[in-house]
Amino acid sequence: MKRTRNITAALLAGGLTLALAACGGSSAPGASGGSDSKNLEVFSWWTSGSESAALKAMFDGYSKANPGINVVNGAVAGGGGSNAQAVLQTRLQGGNPPDIWQTHPGAAIKQYIDAGLVGDTSSVYIDEVKAAIPKDLVDAISADGKQYGVSAGAHRGNVLWFNKQLLQKAGVAVPGPSGYSTETFLADLAKLKSAGVVPLCLGGKDTFAIAELFENTLLGSLGADGWKQLTTGGGKWDSDKVKVAADNTAKMLQYADPDASALSWDQATKKLAAGSCAFESMGDWAYGELVKDGAKAGETFGYTNHPGTDGTFVAVVDTMVMAKNAKNPTQAEKFLEAVASKEVQLAFNKEKGSVPLRTDVDVSSLSAYQQQAAKSFASDAIVQSVVHGEAMNPQFGQALFDAVTQFTQSKDVNGFTQALANAAQS
Ligand code: BGC
Repeated sequence: MKRTRNITAALLAGGLTLALAACGGSSAPGASGGSDSKNLEVFSWWTSGSESAALKAMFDGYSKANPGINVVNGAVAGGGGSNAQAVLQTRLQGGNPPDIWQTHPGAAIKQYIDAGLVGDTSSVYIDEVKAAIPKDLVDAISADGKQYGVSAGAHRGNVLWFNKQLLQKAGVAVPGPSGYSTETFLADLAKLKSAGVVPLCLGGKDTFAIAELFENTLLGSLGADGWKQLTTGGGKWDSDKVKVAADNTAKMLQYADPDASALSWDQATKKLAAGSCAFESMGDWAYGELVKDGAKAGETFGYTNHPGTDGTFVAVVDTMVMAKNAKNPTQAEKFLEAVASKEVQLAFNKEKGSVPLRTDVDVSSLSAYQQQAAKSFASDAIVQSVVHGEAMNPQFGQALFDAVTQFTQSKDVNGFTQALANAAQS
């Protein structure tokens, strides 16, 4: 299914059905604004092993505090929301929003705020919660001084995972915690190939996985300041540095699993855990998945920053919003209160591989990887992800996905960067 990410344009094309429904003007079956007090629907794209476990932890935390309500899991499979975004848009257009849905801060949440689709969640931001969340991240879900979402945790997008045993078997030195360069990475991929190992794990069925490889490589080429300049409108998407990143991505893709196009991100990660492929550039939801797959950090697998991105943290922040006229507004708010609680933040992130957004959560019971990620989150340069819809608007996101799909076939660096430059201007 094609990922259609521009909610506002779709609503305009669809005659603003949802906006009317949100004003209480619709009587369509299942339309929002009703008073369904027994059910609460939560919509997400969390369907892999670790994602489902994390979602369950969120549900459990809510249900413990609010017994008697049936939580309806409206999850739609497809990594990075590739299918869920389109399904959600259709529902929003039809005036049938879920009570709660998953999104990200920045441009992703802004599209819903601007279209008047999400409810004001400021009441969840009691002093204790507000004081515990970094101000920039509160700002990233706010408009006109009001908060429109509650973030559950922060993933690091720019991680390079590897099967340690496979590297050792192929005589490739295991990367250290930092300082791993693009040149060494490319040389190691070549070595693995000559040793008869599948060098790069890739869940190419999820376009976001290839886009993520490019995003991380682009960050490595630009650095955090260059990234901010590029994504806030000042930089050029067809600059030499972007071309270098595209060229390096094309080189990396030559080493991808020949079965990549049939695999989702979590199936590719499973192959890494099983020792069927060596490296994977992927956000740290892969950590949760590797552990779920039975792989052991430090023994079976290791991790380092994606080449060239030491000291920068691509923050992919999982955020829940509630429909403006949710069918069950009281429970929707209670659900978000649970998401904001220290208990749920800990339980959710434990399974998910991310770190709690609240800085007052004791992370000592989380894995060594997550404790290190929590430190990086507190001290690294934080940048927003384009692939996960935070840093650029949804139209650009869609153009990036389309361009990545073409580029995967053509490897045409100039055509690719030109398409991105055009999209950034329109
Ligand atoms: C979400 C993660 C999710 C990943 C893969 C990202 O957009 O932030 O929570 O695990 O996609 O589905």
